[in-house]
Amino acid sequence: MKIAVTAASGQLGAAIVEAVIEHTSKESVIALARTPEKASHLGVEVRQGDYNDIVQLEQSLQGVDSLLIVSGMDAPEKRIGQHRNVINAAKRAGVKKLVYTSVQGAEEGTAFSPVIQSNRQTEQDIRESGLDWVIGRNGIYIEPDIEYIDSYKKLGGVFNCAEDGKCGYTTRSELGYAYARMLTEDKHNGEMYNLHGEAITQAQLTEYMNVAFGTDLVFKSMSVEEYKQDRIAELGDFIGTVIAGIYQGIREGKSDNPSHYAQAAGREHVSWQDYFSSLKS
Ligand SMILES: NC(=O)c1ccc[n+]([C@@H]2O[C@H](COP(=O)([O-])OP(=O)(O)OC[C@H]3O[C@@H](n4cnc5c(N)ncnc54)[C@H](OP(=O)(O)O)[C@@H]3O)[C@@H](O)[C@H]2O)c1
Repeated sequence: MKIAVTAASGQLGAAIVEAVIEHTSKESVIALARTPEKASHLGVEVRQGDYNDIVQLEQSLQGVDSLLIVSGMDAPEKRIGQHRNVINAAKRAGVKKLVYTSVQGAEEGTAFSPVIQSNRQTEQDIRESGLDWVIGRNGIYIEPDIEYIDSYKKLGGVFNCAEDGKCGYTTRSELGYAYARMLTEDKHNGEMYNLHGEAITQAQLTEYMNVAFGTDLVFKSMSVEEYKQDRIAELGDFIGTVIAGIYQGIREGKSDNPSHYAQAAGREHVSWQDYFSSLKS
């Protein structure tokens, strides 16, 4: 059985490739990448895979049985068409099963909602593809907060607009593990899973980081508008507004959903205590 993974040059795609190798073998995995040289370190066959090029995708998907589609990075309206290119190329190439990395979050009312809606459209396209399918709705990656630790230290705390909303965070390697199971086990076909660990507040996240990094950070919430202006000043209009939209969704409880991680992965998600202890060591 041949399993292909798109966007394998990216962090999530690479984590999924590595987990699938663990579950099968290097010979069973094909990495698709828009920039193939960025995926060569994975040690598997790499083929071209630009979401904008349906002819190239169809060629690259020859002989593939199951395909993992990592959601794209372009503007929401463009993503829907890019994902359709991948789905249609897969159908033409004779792929039997699609697994899609979707996302959780507010479907309406925030600046992040157009991204969520584009993911929902692709979910529908996948369900209507006529192929076997499994959909994962990823929680928010926790790694960016860890990578931001020096900035948090400079600021003296974590400041955003999430208030006491809980967020179902996850890690890319935990996602990789679950997606490897979803790709290789038929029992997941036709299922949609929320993939994240225990949901935590920003105050809890701050405390975990304090224990792991020996810091004395505090969490302070601000209004959505205040945070939006703060993010725009640092990141520019588009990204700043979207980031504020993500935290607005957390504030409104849209990232606090039941987790189906254990069903998908066949084991529990790493606990935050263990995860942060591993960072400490
Ligand atoms: N759950 C979350 O918290 C969260 C946060 C951020 C993003 N996301 C979503 O998760 C996805 C993966 O995240 P990540 O951490 O792996 O991001 P990443 O490391 O930035 O990787 C993005 C990947 O998308 C690829 N890509 C972009 N445009 C493409 C195109 N036209 N055709 C084919 N590949 C294309 C990039 O290829 P190149 O190497 O050629 O650039 C790269 O491999 C993102 O695309 C986004 O949809 C989720």
